[in-house]
Amino acid sequence: MKSLLKKFTEKYLIPIVQKKFFDHPGTKELFNNPEKLFYDQWGYAKTTKNYSNEEKMNIFLHFQYSEKAKVALSVASSYLGGHYLEFGSHDLYTLRNFLAAFDTGNLNSRFPNTKFYGFDIFGSYDSHENKKYFEKGMVYESKKKYFDDFTHQGDVIPLYNKVLKEFDVFNERTFLIKGFFEDTLKDFELDDKIGFACLDCNLTQSYEFVLSWIEDKITDGTYLYFDEYFDRGLVNKCIEKFRLRVLEKYQIKLFYVRSAASVGALFRCFKI
Ligand SMILES: C[S@@+](CC[C@H](N)C(=O)[O-])C[C@H]1O[C@@H](n2cnc3c(N)ncnc32)[C@H](O)[C@@H]1O
Repeated sequence: MKSLLKKFTEKYLIPIVQKKFFDHPGTKELFNNPEKLFYDQWGYAKTTKNYSNEEKMNIFLHFQYSEKAKVALSVASSYLGGHYLEFGSHDLYTLRNFLAAFDTGNLNSRFPNTKFYGFDIFGSYDSHENKKYFEKGMVYESKKKYFDDFTHQGDVIPLYNKVLKEFDVFNERTFLIKGFFEDTLKDFELDDKIGFACLDCNLTQSYEFVLSWIEDKITDGTYLYFDEYFDRGLVNKCIEKFRLRVLEKYQIKLFYVRSAASVGALFRCFKI
């Protein structure tokens, strides 16, 4: 009798309860937005006492990723046109954020010529050809491990092109440019101003190089996002130097707009 009851429960009751649970709009909402676990109905925090480690981690991950998506939406809310340039695109999260924000803000009707560029080594680099960067005294002397950590999958361009095709938002105007910034930016020419430059490339050396490349290309209204602004002392210092430099050389002042999870920071350039 006992085993009959057990069989009946396993076969019929549990699936029904589970189905109800998974079909419930509240459950679906929580799966889509685990950060909601954190808030009570008025927006205060609920007790987290009985949450699992996984639930707590989901709250944090959702918060951090959604903050970056909000940066993209903030930029799209007041965009003045120009191209989107991203330095450090691996995983394509920030790139997809901006494609979707641009679309959501219906910016395409006003700026049909905006192009979206992602610069990165995209999962591989020729170690012979690029030996020069890692040699003693060279720019990435102690950073080989950093780059190698992004190469476990090998060249990800075919995969990412597929991802962008499935994402299907301005795919024909999105370009992934593979290689070290030092090589790919050498011959890169812009046919319009920079509307938004997103720097998510971790290393101070990479920031320094990109900032010196964009300093004479930013203009009135350009947005700049630095993903490590509040995170790393040296990156922060080099951005602060850049702010002083563009103010002195080009009379462009960077106004702070918002943070992303207290790590990244969005700025806007204005000619003064
Ligand atoms: C944190 S990941 C970018 C994540 C991406 N923005 C996203 O949200 O999915 C940083 C990337 O910057 C790239 N990177 C850093 N310095 C670089 C350089 N000098 N040249 C090319 N890529 C660089 C790394 O290879 C890595 O793929």
